[in-house]
Amino acid sequence: MLLHLEKILTPDELRSARALLGPHAPWTAGRSSAGGQAAGRKNNDQLAQDSEPARQLQAIVLAAVQRDPLFFSAALPRKTFNPLFNRYSGTSNHYGAHIDNAVMHSRNPAQWVRTDLSCTLFLSEPNEYEGGELVIQLPQGERRIKAAAGDLVLYPGSTLHQVTPVTRGARLASFFWIESMVASSEQRQLLFEMDMALLKLRERGEDDPAVVQLTGTYHNLLRMWAQT
Ligand code: NI
Repeated sequence: MLLHLEKILTPDELRSARALLGPHAPWTAGRSSAGGQAAGRKNNDQLAQDSEPARQLQAIVLAAVQRDPLFFSAALPRKTFNPLFNRYSGTSNHYGAHIDNAVMHSRNPAQWVRTDLSCTLFLSEPNEYEGGELVIQLPQGERRIKAAAGDLVLYPGSTLHQVTPVTRGARLASFFWIESMVASSEQRQLLFEMDMALLKLRERGEDDPAVVQLTGTYHNLLRMWAQT
């Protein structure tokens, strides 16, 4: 499943995030944080994750995802990796095809996170750069994504993906991973579909006992499958 959440950041949050990611931000070589196989393919800049701008940016991104009910329903987050920030521009401009490490160590808070879901939060508008597509190989086929600044894309951590070379301008983004309460992507997808169908029924003002029963069934399935 690939989920595109539009305008997850408010215009004010986007402005603050962009200001914190200016040319004087503490950028470092991105390959230092990649796993063995991925390191040779990674050529971008990454914000020093223990820096003050990174801490402020992490708070902005975490607040945005934590208030979004669709994000919660799709991801059912148990642990969230501290958001990281990258820049593709100049000669540090791409990240070749790779699969992310299955388990990664997040620093804030210090914890191991199983990467069930990958998130990319776009912080540059598509017209600010050439290239820089997020290309994801899904079972249904390849998806090429260049979303608006402030939009978030959620996709399975198990997928082969890449960022194509940026040939003009700069592409800024945040990226991070979610360990879900429901490890199985099939079970998570069924729950998400059911939750969305129930949402539509409730929006229509249905208060039929069958809706109450189905809502209970959703929670009983979640109780059966969730690990907290
Ligand atoms: Ni990756």
